[in-house]
Amino acid sequence: MSEQNSPNIAEDLLCIHAIITRGLNVSIESGRLFAQDGYPDASAREGFIAYVGSLVSVLDAHHLTESDLFFPYFRDKLPDAPIDLLMAQHRELEPVLQQAKAATDEVSAEPRAGAALGRLNDLLGKIADFWHPHIRIEEDHFSVDRIGTLIDAKEHERLAVAAIQHSQQHSGPDYLVVPFLLHNLPPDRRAAFARSMPPVVTQHLLPVVWKEKWEPMRPYLLP
Ligand SMILES: [Fe+2]
Ligand SMILES: [Fe+2]
Repeated sequence: MSEQNSPNIAEDLLCIHAIITRGLNVSIESGRLFAQDGYPDASAREGFIAYVGSLVSVLDAHHLTESDLFFPYFRDKLPDAPIDLLMAQHRELEPVLQQAKAATDEVSAEPRAGAALGRLNDLLGKIADFWHPHIRIEEDHFSVDRIGTLIDAKEHERLAVAAIQHSQQHSGPDYLVVPFLLHNLPPDRRAAFARSMPPVVTQHLLPVVWKEKWEPMRPYLLP
């Protein structure tokens, strides 16, 4: 790990990848279980729909942030990074994400686990097949050591804030997406990732104002 710069935008990239990876694993495991046994109660169903909806929204916004902001910024600085390939992969996944959004809406209109949940589970499997090889390329080329020495600390900070803002403009609702982001990370990584968020979000909105709204997602999140 690089000692040169902290914070390091490549650490944030690893965090968001870890969030989405856990989100996919939990959604796939829960979706399969519910398709087999049905929802145990209304709250589990509501939380599952909120969790999967947040996952799809966060993943879509992450791709936009990389394609609009991150990749253009590093294109000249890292000429060997396969940016065109990564952006083409984002475009390939886009229709699958739109289908997953539509399937999540259909699941929320389906009172019991049924055909729409089956479709959603298939789409989540497709997304996971795409996801792992895709982030391997990103993490190899935009590694913590490499990015850490490439730009100075102020640039890391500026990029981190810009990435959070861009991502929040393209995802939502905040009262589900923010807890989804922070509570799919273990506590030791959560604080570092939250540093670029306004304090009012982490200290007041999340624990007080939004508390009841994201409560049903808790069984799927980390404490
Ligand atoms: Fe990507
Ligand atoms: Fe990524």
